[in-house]
Amino acid sequence: PKTNNIDFTIEKVTLAPDGFTRQLSTVNGQFPGPTIEVNKGDRILMKIRNKLGESTAMHAHGMLQRGTPWFDGVPWMAQCVIPDDYEFTYNFTVADQVGTHWYHAHETMQYVDGVFGALIIHDPDDPFKSEYDEEIIVMLNDYHHTNAQILLKQFLTPESHGEEPVPDNGLINGKNNFDCSKAPPGSKCVDNAGLAKFEFVKDKKYRLRIINTSAFSAFFFSIDKHDMEVIEADGLYTKRNKIHRLPINVAQRYSVIVTANQPVDNYIMRSEFQKTINLPNIKAIVHYEGAPDDPEPKDNPWSDSLTEYVDLDHKTLQPLEEEKIPESTKKFEFKIDFHKNSTGVVKAFLNNSSYIPDINFPTLDKIFKKKSFNETSANAYIFDKDGEVVDMYFINSDDGEHPFHIHGYQFWVLGTGNGDKVDENELNTHNPIKRDTATIPASGWIAIRFVSDNPGAWGIHCHMICYRFIPFLFIILFFFDKFTNIFFLYFHFIFVLRVAFGIWSFD
Ligand code: C2O
Repeated sequence: PKTNNIDFTIEKVTLAPDGFTRQLSTVNGQFPGPTIEVNKGDRILMKIRNKLGESTAMHAHGMLQRGTPWFDGVPWMAQCVIPDDYEFTYNFTVADQVGTHWYHAHETMQYVDGVFGALIIHDPDDPFKSEYDEEIIVMLNDYHHTNAQILLKQFLTPESHGEEPVPDNGLINGKNNFDCSKAPPGSKCVDNAGLAKFEFVKDKKYRLRIINTSAFSAFFFSIDKHDMEVIEADGLYTKRNKIHRLPINVAQRYSVIVTANQPVDNYIMRSEFQKTINLPNIKAIVHYEGAPDDPEPKDNPWSDSLTEYVDLDHKTLQPLEEEKIPESTKKFEFKIDFHKNSTGVVKAFLNNSSYIPDINFPTLDKIFKKKSFNETSANAYIFDKDGEVVDMYFINSDDGEHPFHIHGYQFWVLGTGNGDKVDENELNTHNPIKRDTATIPASGWIAIRFVSDNPGAWGIHCHMICYRFIPFLFIILFFFDKFTNIFFLYFHFIFVLRVAFGIWSFD
């Protein structure tokens, strides 16, 4: 195993990814940020120099952080924020994890303004290694021309009625065209900024690592005329499965193998918004070597219809290796709903409460100091036994779906469905897929299972517009040095799981 030194400066830079000039929050001035590529078992030393003019914290989405919960990057749960002009180094090993992940700021809405990038863990024992010649990273996101803090402020007013902001555009690897006649007068904008271009060589096979880094949007991803075979979901291998269009929700990742088996030409790679949004497909170009350049290849989309926007289900997505899963020992049921709070702002609730972070004292620190943490007890659950097998049923009364993500764990997806009752006879305990982000259907439910074997303070949350603005704070705790393994082992049997939903609120 190797130690990988990553040096990131987080700063604001003026860019025009789709031709519209705006200020973005970037990692090393790039949008999207630089890719982190390491091998299974490696150590990552990720230094964050915060030059953003506001506090930040960085989360490696998909990394389990076994034995290093304090490097999970969630402000006020795992750590204090990194104030402006400070630096902080995350130090963790990727242990036995592999696959396609990403990193993103976990403070307020910063990743929506650009603080994100791909995090790839290569696997020397990749069972599909001989099945592809090259790897390509494809990052999909919805894109707003307005600064995310402003969007968030608007969202948190009674006037928004809880409707999420509508994106202005969508991007593939940070690129797309934009019709500048739609830009507000006075803005700096050029048409035809250019699409992302992927070079194919006839008959070669490509592993596409697809990451949805959106604020709100689920997509159908496809390449005209090319089918693809899914081999990985959220870092875990799946049985090969041929599809035309890949549904991918916020924060999910997939690998697919695509063979360049079509006539030498240009083809459109497309990402379709699943929600009815008045925006065209997001496009990029697949250019075969030897074909003339064509900035606008002809449309040739797959015609099969996809009505329901949910994840690939258990018929289409199975783990590569069969795994016997344990019987559950604990069960929780959560009702998700949205309603107005006392100030008239629509908020998200789980069993009638919203998570309220304590912006003075991170949860993990309280655990180490054996302080009680009842100030946020609303949806905090303590598992004081190693290896509890936890079932969680989420029942969503909202008419929108929600991509749920759990920190520190991967969970088995036992089932999803419509209606307000989990159909226990329908649960798949035989060979379910395991992942870290899954969709709870609109007016529907999901049942997940995991084994509580990773001590720490972890959150579960919807990955859409997760955060409310956290006021700037000057408290920094230089406590990480003091966290020795002895401390850690001593408290080994304390597990805290925070269940948040939607907005983490202060009221
Ligand atoms: Cu992608 Cu709580 O994170």
